[in-house]
Amino acid sequence: MSETTPSADDSGARTSPVALPIPSLRAPSDGAQFSTDRRGRMLQDLRISVTDRCNFRCVYCMPKEIFGRDFAFLERDELLTFEEIERIARVAVQGGVRKIRLTGGEPLLRRGIEDLIAKLAAIRRPDGEKVDIALTTNGSALALKAQALKDAGLDRVTVSVDSLDEETFQRMNDVNFPLHRVFDGLAAAHEVGLGPIKINMVVKKGLNDHDILPMARYFKQTPYVLRFIEYMDVGSTNGWRLDDVVTADEIVEQISAEMPLETLNPTAPGETASRWRYTDGQGEIGVIASVTKAFCSSCTRARISTEGRLFTCLFANAGYDLRELLRSGGTDEDLDAALRGIWANRADNYSERRASLTPGTRRKIEMSYIGG
Ligand code: GTP
Ligand code: 5AD
Ligand code: SF4
Ligand code: SF4
Repeated sequence: MSETTPSADDSGARTSPVALPIPSLRAPSDGAQFSTDRRGRMLQDLRISVTDRCNFRCVYCMPKEIFGRDFAFLERDELLTFEEIERIARVAVQGGVRKIRLTGGEPLLRRGIEDLIAKLAAIRRPDGEKVDIALTTNGSALALKAQALKDAGLDRVTVSVDSLDEETFQRMNDVNFPLHRVFDGLAAAHEVGLGPIKINMVVKKGLNDHDILPMARYFKQTPYVLRFIEYMDVGSTNGWRLDDVVTADEIVEQISAEMPLETLNPTAPGETASRWRYTDGQGEIGVIASVTKAFCSSCTRARISTEGRLFTCLFANAGYDLRELLRSGGTDEDLDAALRGIWANRADNYSERRASLTPGTRRKIEMSYIGG
């Protein structure tokens, strides 16, 4: 990439995410699908963060010492409204997005989230198909909300469960949230048909790696697909060290020694998880190896932050200010041209370059700000 190109992947220490102006380089808007980015990748997956707040303080995501009482979360008028989110989503779907994932923070904390889901569920792709709408949650409010989410048009949920051991689970969420309430949520989601349900387990060495096998054994008996996630250096506050990562190979090896696994083909190109199935035919798992097996070459994801910045990489430290464009009277055509231009100019591949970067020299956005 040329040194003069404005990039969402700029280096440099900064205290808060930087808002990049919409580049003047705008692609002509001809109503067609967006072109590929500079590495030949399509835009297919839009991840929208609807709140930067969460009722958990997972040690790998929102450590209590940083996200304490004094932490300045976004104010209400800083958040994109549901109408603004819907506009961005509609234009992005027109340009090729097939899947929308709502994230946070904890998305179920956003008041009226069902109303947003209903708006998004009404959007049609150019071929007339509905967009796949998923939501990533910690499950704490799922028992209460599953039915309303389903009724609004949500297709499926992914629920974070880092341990089956009550003590470890609570040590990881760091707010003493009991495991059984997440399981109540899971049961409710299953009952109303918010599936296929996936379970995300972030594995951090010395914290919950002793739970890899118990989690695999338990979820093998359920309709839920368990995915193990390598602990990532996302954000700048979780004190990440490479030594804390349990690698995908180690995870698969450990499980396979007791319950043999074989690889499965991806269900869709650009998938984050590599898939494995048990050779006894009962169940499958996924492994998300962002650290040891980067999947940037097929990354079709863009992210919208709660305050309306477009990030073209999870590890960026700057995002394009779509909110400013919308609130200064920008039309749908302006939005379309901006998205086309930004995507066409995208060259992010952080995970592929991680090993060659000097740790701690660049400030990155927090996962709770941009979503998983
Ligand atoms: P589906 O395949 O649609 O179910 O979703 P997904 O595989 O994108 O899964 P999900 O959104 O649950 O992502 C799981 C985890 O993978 C996230 O919480 C992140 O930890 C990680 N992840 C997702 N997208 C990216 C990405 O673009 N880059 C990196 N490095 N990690 C990602
Ligand atoms: N490493 C890997 N995944 C993370 N998540 C949050 N922080 C991290 C991290 N440091 C992901 C988890 C969780 C989702 C909301 O974000 O998958 O399920
Ligand atoms: Fe909240 Fe999810 Fe982050 Fe945990 S991982 S603190 S549940 S946003
Ligand atoms: Fe995509 Fe950035 Fe993740 Fe690579 S590191 S897969 S470019 S979001």
